[in-house]
Amino acid sequence: MTFIALSSGALHFAENLEFGVANLIPVDPFDLIIFGGSGDLAMRKLLPALYHRHNDGQLPAGSRIISVSRTPMAREQFVLLVRKAIEEHANAGAPGDAWHAFAERLHYVDVDALAPQSWDSLRDLLEGHEEKIRAVYMATPPSLFGPIAQGFAERGLMSPDMRIVLEKPVGRDYPTAREINDAVGRCFPESQIYRIDHYLGKETVQNILALRFGNSLFEPLWRREVVDHVQITVAEQLGVENRIDFYDDIGALRDMVQNHMLQLLCLVAMEAPSSLEDDAVRDEKLKVLRALRPITQNDAHTSTVRAQYQAGAVDGKAVTGYAEALGRQSDTETFVAIKAELDNWRWSGVPFYLRTGKRLAAKHSEIVIQFKPIPHSIFSESSFTTRPNKLSIMLQPNEGVKLSIMAKQPGPGGFRLQQVSLDLSFAETFGATYPDAYERLLIEVLRGNPALFMRRDEVETAWQWIDGIHAAWQARGQQVEAYFSGSWGPTQASLLLDREQRAWELGT
Ligand code: BG6
Repeated sequence: MTFIALSSGALHFAENLEFGVANLIPVDPFDLIIFGGSGDLAMRKLLPALYHRHNDGQLPAGSRIISVSRTPMAREQFVLLVRKAIEEHANAGAPGDAWHAFAERLHYVDVDALAPQSWDSLRDLLEGHEEKIRAVYMATPPSLFGPIAQGFAERGLMSPDMRIVLEKPVGRDYPTAREINDAVGRCFPESQIYRIDHYLGKETVQNILALRFGNSLFEPLWRREVVDHVQITVAEQLGVENRIDFYDDIGALRDMVQNHMLQLLCLVAMEAPSSLEDDAVRDEKLKVLRALRPITQNDAHTSTVRAQYQAGAVDGKAVTGYAEALGRQSDTETFVAIKAELDNWRWSGVPFYLRTGKRLAAKHSEIVIQFKPIPHSIFSESSFTTRPNKLSIMLQPNEGVKLSIMAKQPGPGGFRLQQVSLDLSFAETFGATYPDAYERLLIEVLRGNPALFMRRDEVETAWQWIDGIHAAWQARGQQVEAYFSGSWGPTQASLLLDREQRAWELGT
């Protein structure tokens, strides 16, 4: 049996594995330095992810996790915080025997990245460890990415095998993204810079590659002659919670579309790369981003919807609206729907409808490839009308692939058609629980494989398209619409498709 596994240099296929189980190849000894090391991302995602990899025996002896933040704190206190975070977020039960060995790896130093003298303790900790892989993870506001990179360069803390990881968002628009990329790029070559989009680490997102390029079946169908349109929905039930002040400056377009949604679009729309090596996939994704037709002031009102959640009920529980939680009125969107179009031969005339929002009816992410209707029906009206085929790639929470086809209802008399699905649930088929995206991405950083990370040109091209939409909204004074928490978004989002005699798969 074959199953996709990851190893140094590229994503590749590992032979002779038991069905459903990818092999775990240990990484080389490393020092992972996490700036923002006591922050939300580190505690909720990064440290639990590392704990899982440690539990699976993937982290070699001598490897250290060095958390860096501005708050002075004793190592023991930090270790207790991490233990609590792991109990809460690692889904691994109470930390068992493996915990003590994991705790030994943990170090904590307080550094103010902007204060030159405060780097001494970090320098002391790193001295003499130059032969190991050195990875610096910046889980900080993007304004610190440049100064931290410079801090390493100026203090001679570079090691031959060094990697710099930038958490999203890289900037808030094209000019700020360029500034950050320039600042980090002055200290490190592009090959050492890893820009995270955690969607690329999700197992089911990678399965898009397996589906498209591991099967010959779909390629002839994957084009404008056969596909009517594509829908990409990333719906969340959570509101913006305790990130509201940060979020209010960002909004859904920058928070979700610039990165996650566009990356999904790229994986669906790109041409077949020649391999899965570092740049091959990224080159193809870049071509898609460059083919995105700009949305202008003239078509923003027919191609985009922006909206904000009001009070309502999610899963039967009453919740407050965005503005109430913020304590003031705001024009920030928590929902966005976009009709995107690609100006290239494969996809010309095929709309890609993107939709994402917070406080929606369900947590549900799905890509739907909607095929064209049959050209002529041989069935009588009483057979029920045929429905076009569709392929649904379910990303979360129930990962799988579903192909809807028409079938004859069983029975001796008459000829009645019914839509049924060929349904593949990954959980049932592989019986495996999926690692969190950050587990995979951290291991890829340590292996030195940048294929699953965004290259500078991808990030900047995506920002240019997003900036165009922002500019169009501003020029038109396009207001945020309202939607109830617990709904599928504003009616305007349904109209976006309704106008073109189409409908969202979910929630209309
Ligand atoms: C993050 C966004 O990048 O992705 C959040 O900043 C969002 O606002 C999150 O909630 C969604 O990720 P996931 O993995 O839960 O779909």
